[in-house]
Amino acid sequence: MAQQVRGVIAPGKNEPVRVETVVVPDPAPGEAVVQVQACGVCHTDLHYKQGGINDDFPFLLGHEAAGVVESVGPGPSDLEPGDFVILNWRAVCGQCRACKRGRPWYCFDTHNASQQMTLADSGRALSPALGIGAFAEKTLVAAGQCTKVDPSVSPAVAGLLGCGVMAGIGAAINTGAVGRGDSVAVIGCGGVGDAAVAGARLAGAARIIAVDIDARKLRTAESMGATHTVDSTKTDPVEAIRELTGGFGADVVIEAVGRPETYEQAFYARDLAGTVVLVGVPTPEMRLELPLLDVFGRGGSLKSSWYGDCLPDRDFPMLIDLHQQGRLDLEKFVTERIALDEVEESFARMEAGDVLRSVVVF
Ligand code: APR
Ligand code: ZN
Ligand code: ZN
Repeated sequence: MAQQVRGVIAPGKNEPVRVETVVVPDPAPGEAVVQVQACGVCHTDLHYKQGGINDDFPFLLGHEAAGVVESVGPGPSDLEPGDFVILNWRAVCGQCRACKRGRPWYCFDTHNASQQMTLADSGRALSPALGIGAFAEKTLVAAGQCTKVDPSVSPAVAGLLGCGVMAGIGAAINTGAVGRGDSVAVIGCGGVGDAAVAGARLAGAARIIAVDIDARKLRTAESMGATHTVDSTKTDPVEAIRELTGGFGADVVIEAVGRPETYEQAFYARDLAGTVVLVGVPTPEMRLELPLLDVFGRGGSLKSSWYGDCLPDRDFPMLIDLHQQGRLDLEKFVTERIALDEVEESFARMEAGDVLRSVVVF
């Protein structure tokens, strides 16, 4: 029988979010209902509220979550009630041209639950953020969006792997393929950039240069493994990165802001034949202008990182293991634990740069 739960709704463009009663249907074949235990507040949730993603209001926000499978739709499934899972927003299809070529992290046909969750009072269909909608006591997802991990880890920590932290770590270890001894620069050290710093450290980078315009962020980046920091309000980051790398530039530069000017810095701060990874998400009106001769002459690769080019079933359990072994301190990303009705206030702290992650804990 369909259930009623509390969930955080973005009712319309720039309107404050509020807690409302949400109807969660029973799972159909290929779907699961998950009892959410924790869900981080991500920038993308704010973008949804601001109408920056699309106009499909009302949204059920939240997409960086971990919880316990409550029920699974009829038919064969790898999931069982009671499984502790991290939710992912790229459930791969196994059938598209990317999947068939053995590159499922690029899957061009990822999927979500096919049934809709609705508002209890009006019956209106909800658009779940990134196909998840986990600022809710329970949510309906595609079974492929659930990745089982070691249940002894804290849900607040596990959930973060579902979006920003995975995007950042994956930008370094998957997309950037950072290797032992590499020099790495990370421009923008919010949750995503700090995760890229942590990923570069895991991968064995010898030099990790953190760049930000906020001195507080540079201190956090140091605690994540940055060996050098550059305040780009005071120092030209391209020159500083070159100076710190023997005059050459970094092997891998990760752009975790999503702006043309920081992309240009990343482009010129890398060594010849180096790699630029764009993991920050730009907005539609942004344009980039670069001398084409420099694009050719500097060689190497200019890559984008979708969700850290991760494969949830491969990467989530691995990163949880590294966390459990004490080699990746994911707890550092949790600035505060909040209640479901505190999401609106947490957006203000996010915009002020006061938090790495606020996490709703149920
Ligand atoms: N140069 C350097 N750093 C900058 C600049 C700039 N010009 N502008 C902003 N920053 C820094 C901010 O000070 C902040 O520390 O970039 C960081 C951005 O961090 P958050 O706002 O916390 O965002 P985060 O969650 O890390 O996401 C970063 O990735 O997923 C995308 O949409 C997301 O585009 C965003 C990016
Ligand atoms: Zn596919
Ligand atoms: Zn996110």
